[in-house]
This record gives sequence, C-alpha cells and structure tokens, in this order.
Amino acid sequence: MTSSSANSRRTFAIISHPDAGKTTLTEKLLLQGGAIHLAGEVKARGAARRTRSDWMKIEQQRGISVTSSVMTFEKTYDGETITFNLLDTPGHEDFSEDTYRTLTAVDSAIMVIDAAKGIEPQTRKLFEVCRLRSVPIITFVNKVDREGRPVFELLDEIADMLALDVSPQMYPVGMGGQFEGVLDFATGAIARPEGPSKEFLGKRDADAELPEAFAEEAELAQIGYPEFDLEAYRNGDLTPVYFGSALKNFGVTELIDAIARHAPPPRPQPAGEDSIAPERDEVTGFIFKVQANMDPNHRDRIAFMRQVSGTFKRGMKLTPSGLGKPIAVHSPILFFAQDREIADTAEPGDIIGIPNHGTLRVGDTLSEKNEVRFTGLPDFAPEILRRVQLVDPTKTKQLRKALDDLSEEGVIQVFYPEIGGQWIVGVVGQLQLEVLISRLSAEYKVEARLEPAPFATARWLAGPAAKLDEFENFNRANLARDRDGNLVFMAKSGWDVNYQQEKNPEIQFSATKER
Ligand code: G4P
Repeated sequence: MTSSSANSRRTFAIISHPDAGKTTLTEKLLLQGGAIHLAGEVKARGAARRTRSDWMKIEQQRGISVTSSVMTFEKTYDGETITFNLLDTPGHEDFSEDTYRTLTAVDSAIMVIDAAKGIEPQTRKLFEVCRLRSVPIITFVNKVDREGRPVFELLDEIADMLALDVSPQMYPVGMGGQFEGVLDFATGAIARPEGPSKEFLGKRDADAELPEAFAEEAELAQIGYPEFDLEAYRNGDLTPVYFGSALKNFGVTELIDAIARHAPPPRPQPAGEDSIAPERDEVTGFIFKVQANMDPNHRDRIAFMRQVSGTFKRGMKLTPSGLGKPIAVHSPILFFAQDREIADTAEPGDIIGIPNHGTLRVGDTLSEKNEVRFTGLPDFAPEILRRVQLVDPTKTKQLRKALDDLSEEGVIQVFYPEIGGQWIVGVVGQLQLEVLISRLSAEYKVEARLEPAPFATARWLAGPAAKLDEFENFNRANLARDRDGNLVFMAKSGWDVNYQQEKNPEIQFSATKER
C-alpha cells in the first residue's frame, strides 16, 4: 500500500436529530461527488420514506432504515482524488446501538443542526459518543433559508452545551425572507441564491457589498470566536462551523471541501496497549455491524468491516478473532451509492461487506496474522428493558439460543436475572425490540411477547471481589448476568444508579462495556 492511498480516504458519518436535514444533506453530498444523478434518490421523504438499503422486512413496513449503510463518492482537488466513505446512521428517533457502533468506525463526523432549533437531544447524545472516542466534528447549521435563531445565540449554545470551542468559518447574510447568501470568511465571497426557486446556481460574488449591519456582525463572528486550529479540531476540542441550506444546496461545497481539507485521514485504532496504524503492511480491520436477513430463506449475513491497515485484495485469507481459523474473502462488497460492487482492493478507511453465515460477530478483529485484537467497541447501557414471555413455554432452549445469538450480533442485550427465570432484554431504541420479535419468529420459530420490566437501565459492575460479593449478597434481586457472565446492576431509575454509586464508592457502575 502507498501511504497516499490511505491519506486520500475520509471516512465519516453525519450526526443529527431527526428532521435537521441529514437525508437532504446526504443527497447533496452524493450529488457533488457525482455518485447519484437525481436528488431524491437517497430516500423519498414524507409518507414514503424508503432507502435503497431496505433489506429487512421491518424496514419496508415502517419505511425507515433500521440499519446503517455505506456510501462512497469521490472528488478531485488539484489532481488528487479524495475518496469519501459516508457511513449512514439511521435518521429515525428510534436509533439503536448500530448508530453508536457506526461511530466507532469513522474518523470524523458532521454535526447537522437546524438553525431554528439548535442543539436537540439526539444531537447531544450522538455528540457524547463521538467525544468518548475524540472523533473530530465539523458543524453544519442547516436551513438558513428559513427564519432561524440569531447566529450568536446558536454559536454560544453549541459552545456551552457541548463544552467545545466553536470557530465560525462563514456567516449567513440574513435568514429566512432576508436571506441574501453566505459569506465565506476564507475567500471573502458571498454565495448568493438565484433563480425563481432561489436554488444556488454556482454564482459566487467576491466583490459583493455586504449590507452594513451584516458586515459588523460578520466581523464580530470572526474576531469574537477562536480561530480555526487544526490540532484542536482533530483532538475533538474545537468545531469549525459552516452555515447553509441543504435544501437549496448552499454551503454544501464548502462543507465537503472542509472535510477534504481538515478531516483526518484514517486514524490508528486502539488494540489493547497498542495502536495499529494504517501504514502497517498486514491487513487488519474490525467488524462494527452485522446485517442479517437479506434473504430470509438463507441465514445470510453481511458483516461490515472497517479496514484499519494494509491493502486488501479479493480472495485474501483473513482470520476472525472469534473463530481462530482463516476464512477466504472471495466476494467482498464495497458499498457505492448506486450499486453494490464487488471490490477487488480496498484501503485503510474503507468499509468492506463480507457475506457469511453467522461466523462473523460485531467486535471481531479480522487480520492476516491473527495477532492483533482491536479494542474499544462498546456495548451501551440499554435505555429500554423488557421481560421476554414465551407463547409456547416448551421453547425455552430455543429462546436462550436465539437471545444469546442476537445479543452477540449486537441486535439486543440480554440479562439473566440472578433470581427468577424471566429473562430480560435491553435495547437503546424501541425499534430494536420489533426487530427482535420479528427475527425470533422468522429465524428461530420462537413466538414471544415482551412485557414491561421493573427496571429502567443497567450498569456493568466492576471493583474489588470482596466488595462485589458483599453487594451481590445485599442486592441479588436487582442483579443479573449478561451473555458473557458479567455482573450487571438492574436499576429502577437513574436515581437508583446514583444512590448505589454513592453508597458503594469502590464499585464502578459502568454505562458502557467493551466487547
Ligand atoms: P433528516 O434526514 O435529518 O430526518 O431530515 P430530512 O433531510 O428528511 O429533512 C427534514 C425536513 O427538512 C424535510 O422537509 C426537508 O425538506 C427539510 N429540509 C432539509 N434541509 C432543509 C433546508 O436547508 N432548508 C429548508 N427550508 N428545509 C430543509 P419535509 O417537509 O419533512 O419533507 P419534504 O416533504 O419537504 O420533502
């Protein structure tokens, strides 16, 4: 592999609250890269939401994307071609662990904010996941063609709520009815809307006179906030802020150019004490998601591998850490926006889809020499817990197998209470529960119902053995084991967690668990 091929990759995701405009922006980014030819192809909005990755029945029923997909496009700058790998995360309110895990496979993220709404709950949650891994973030304040909140208020909200330095790179000249365009600080040019629908038609006006009121504000925005600092951005301490309208195709070019210019190329990935750099000769990668049931008659699965190092070639033998013996990867899939194409080679930062029959699990490392183990792919404390009730009580064994399988795959988490036989499943989003019931029935022929559980969340416990034993003796009714036998505290509320934490300072109550 040449190091320039790894340097030319930008693997990123878009994080946002539903309706902020992620789908519209994705469309415009793909259009810029020439990956699709018609806006609206990514997902028809409104009543008929559909994606091209509508593989699962449930996705089609609900018209939403349960699972994330991968889109690749290219853009050439001064003769150098940059390959963008955009990992899509479900844009629905019912996000799942998939969304979180996808963020472990990216090197940077775009945070889309609705100019009228500012930071919303899901933006914030996803931001926190990015922060856990120091994923650098570029902010895009969207919908400036509509009446929004004052620019300074938005900038200060981002800075305060997320405890980040903000560095505006542009200034919207008016919003809504007064919208005149976007002033780019780097060039001093104003991109103006034109034409009957005021779509952006490519006109940039470098000599435009800025209305006086805006000139002052724009200057304040430039001097009143920190200057862009590449290192601070890449450490996740500073976010450059762009303004625009995905719908009117404003500010999108600036945004993608910023990704090309500033966003980090593939980063080294943690593997225990070590970190594996993209320059390593050996092909290594990790599975961050498994998508099943593309064809209900076959137990076909696609495991998504984020490549970390080496140059992958079709037919190569890689050893999954969970299996121990090598598999030949004959028909890997590279995901393009339009077609899924068979990949011949792939570089660090690329995502490869590997068809398999359930041998590859989320969290597995794949490598040529089977010496590396990537770490840091977490399970997240569930926010919804349910008891699983069998319709046919003789199917206990099948249910146990199914729950173990599905939790290994990362669809749900399962908790086996220390007292009583009623198993509990935990998820981060409601939709995962529907996926569970539908897969139990379709794949395992197990009919089950979900009932409320008297718990609100769970925490993995760690600490000195004596303390844990003592805690266990006192709290058995609120303890369970996860599929790996780890001790888990089942909490009735967030207050319950805090209370126990205060009472037991030597025990760690962890909201994440490494796989
Ligand atoms: P999401 O994926 O983040 O959930 O958001 P999506 O792109 O689907 O956009 C949500 C709504 O916001 C859509 O309107 C979309 O047209 C609108 N929108 C996105 N970007 C902009 C923008 O820059 N300016 C304005 N004014 N609106 C924008 P909708 O009514 O739900 O759908 P549609 O029927 O208009 O397509």
